[in-house]
Amino acid sequence: MALRIDILTLFPEMFEGPGPLSSSMIGRARAAGQVDIRIRNIRDWTHDRHRVADDTPYGGGAGMVMKPEPLVEAIETVRREGGAGNSRSKVVYLTPAGELFNQAVARRFAQLDHLILICGHYEGIDERVRDLAIDEEVSIGDYVLTGGELPAMVVTDAVVRLLPGVLGNPDSARQESFMDHILDYPVYTRPEEFRGVRVPAVLLSGHHAQIQRWRRKMALKRTAERRPDLLERAALTPEDRLLLDEIRKEKAAG
Ligand code: ADE
Repeated sequence: MALRIDILTLFPEMFEGPGPLSSSMIGRARAAGQVDIRIRNIRDWTHDRHRVADDTPYGGGAGMVMKPEPLVEAIETVRREGGAGNSRSKVVYLTPAGELFNQAVARRFAQLDHLILICGHYEGIDERVRDLAIDEEVSIGDYVLTGGELPAMVVTDAVVRLLPGVLGNPDSARQESFMDHILDYPVYTRPEEFRGVRVPAVLLSGHHAQIQRWRRKMALKRTAERRPDLLERAALTPEDRLLLDEIRKEKAAG
């Protein structure tokens, strides 16, 4: 069964037109039926003439709060549509107060049958929605956006590219999970020389083993320089440790 993703939003127009969820790999995955993405307007679950989805906060203060009734009814409806009681379904609220999103969370979501993403706006959602209807809260980074729509697109993109058959090369997702804690090695294409800068000779050598070794070394070097925190969590082989020693020696030698 293809993963189904429902995105609940007050601003469905942010997902309309040839945007990030209709282009490139995600667009192709949708067309091929590898994922079923549906954009749902929370206002469709309001009951008043003006389709009001927010209200002022009890206790006073700035901003508006998203009302509980439309949101909880929307979540209940899409849950039921996806097969209620399905243990492989999850309701995720996008908020800067959530758990930080990363590749491990993306892999976990890619295993589900049904992912329901809730986009917040204004000052947030009524706390009772959290208590009654939200399984998890996720943040895409330590900065504050105007709403959860861009985070929902980010999460959707990261999850869909992990689904079976979505990446051109069936091995690339698996290989990547193995390489999770190491940054990419530098890549080059034609021409051999550009503005006086040559492509590293080893890449033109045709020597496969040496190319692999150089790539691994450059990836480790880059990770050590930019993200030493990642290296600590990486599964390093004895060969990796030798390469890191080499890198340290070269650095010390200047
Ligand atoms: N809503 C606003 N900012 C956000 C963020 N950084 N992550 C997830 N949801 C958000």
